[in-house]
Amino acid sequence: MNLILRRALSFGGACAPHRPVVARRGETDRFILIAAIPETGKGRTMRLRSGVAIDLGTVNTLVYVAGRGIVIDEPTAIAISRETGQVASVGLAADALTGKEPVGIEVIHPLRSGVIADLDATVVMLQAFLHRARVRRRLAKTIAVVCLPVEVTGVERRSVVAAVEALRPRCAVQLVDEPVAAAAGSGFDLMAGSGAFVVDIGGGTTDIAVLAGGHLVRASSIRLGGETMDEAVARAVKREYGLLIGRNAARTLKMTLGLADSDLTEAETVGVDAARRTPRTERVSADLVSAAIEPTVASIVGAVREMLSDIPPNLAEEVVRSKIRLSGGGALLPGLAYRVEAAADIATIVVDDPLRCVIRGAAQILEFGTGGARMTAG
Ligand SMILES: Nc1ncnc2c1ncn2[C@@H]1O[C@H](COP(=O)(O)OP(=O)(O)OP(=O)(O)O)[C@@H](O)[C@H]1O
Ligand SMILES: [Mg+2]
Repeated sequence: MNLILRRALSFGGACAPHRPVVARRGETDRFILIAAIPETGKGRTMRLRSGVAIDLGTVNTLVYVAGRGIVIDEPTAIAISRETGQVASVGLAADALTGKEPVGIEVIHPLRSGVIADLDATVVMLQAFLHRARVRRRLAKTIAVVCLPVEVTGVERRSVVAAVEALRPRCAVQLVDEPVAAAAGSGFDLMAGSGAFVVDIGGGTTDIAVLAGGHLVRASSIRLGGETMDEAVARAVKREYGLLIGRNAARTLKMTLGLADSDLTEAETVGVDAARRTPRTERVSADLVSAAIEPTVASIVGAVREMLSDIPPNLAEEVVRSKIRLSGGGALLPGLAYRVEAAADIATIVVDDPLRCVIRGAAQILEFGTGGARMTAG
């Protein structure tokens, strides 16, 4: 048994007589740790554990502190001085400088496709976030629940553990699959264990998972998400209108026009004329935007269908009953839920506050010990 799971189990064990149960998922190395939630008095639940939960996303980072709530919800970005290496800003303030960096300042987005591309920058960014949120040093001996896309490599997992251990050397890091946290965050009771089908569409990855009986039955991940769509929109606007637009402008066009078959047929954007190199305003057609994001949407829908075709017959009824749940910021893309529902022929819902769904689930896993842990993590 690996150290992380043993630590997590001993944490549950400290709360005897509520014995944790470990469920094995098929022939893979994916495990779910389930600890009973004790009742205090008249049906009220008691917090079991303390520490932090971190949703370290490609686009957004959220930090939850047990007993306090979500203390950070900001873009995954850090700005540093090229000369001194000192942190100029993090999160929202750093992201706002993207593409218009002041002289001597470099803006780093340290994650790519759901995984850490720049470990040092990630550690410094997280340190700055925790400092700002006044997460105290005594958390060092507690638990850090960190959400990761499914199907990340061992090296990628170890870099996440390294990043957290650099912050809190003596804390136990518990890695949780993003869709498991998303399921918990969308109200699915991991312990009750009926079937759930979750699709978490983030900025860099789309994770699809089927859960049942307290464990992952099937899971897959594709390294596509909202950012892939933004890049495609920017390329299409350049090709069609000869206009160079920034990341934020492309994102706004995507969020405004999406795939929706609405009355909105165009939206205004401002960029730089590719030939004259001067600012220009353009009205971009909805058809152009939906055509640009279509390949990413088709890949997501295709991956959902593939996963559905692999569902064990015994689970089919439960999945149909509990509906397909879309989480992550990509779930908000106008028209996407309809596309998934039409392709899957199963009712599809966007979970409440999809951008915070994973951290809500991670918070539950942190505080009540109900959630996922990987045997091979760390
Ligand atoms: N209303 C919206 N319509 C379409 N896309 C949206 C909307 N709101 C946010 N997004 C997209 O959601 C993405 C961010 O979602 P989220 O915060 O879940 O990703 P992440 O967790 O940082 O990424 P990942 O999980 O892939 O590492 C961005 O690409 C953003 O453009
Ligand atoms: Mg995410």
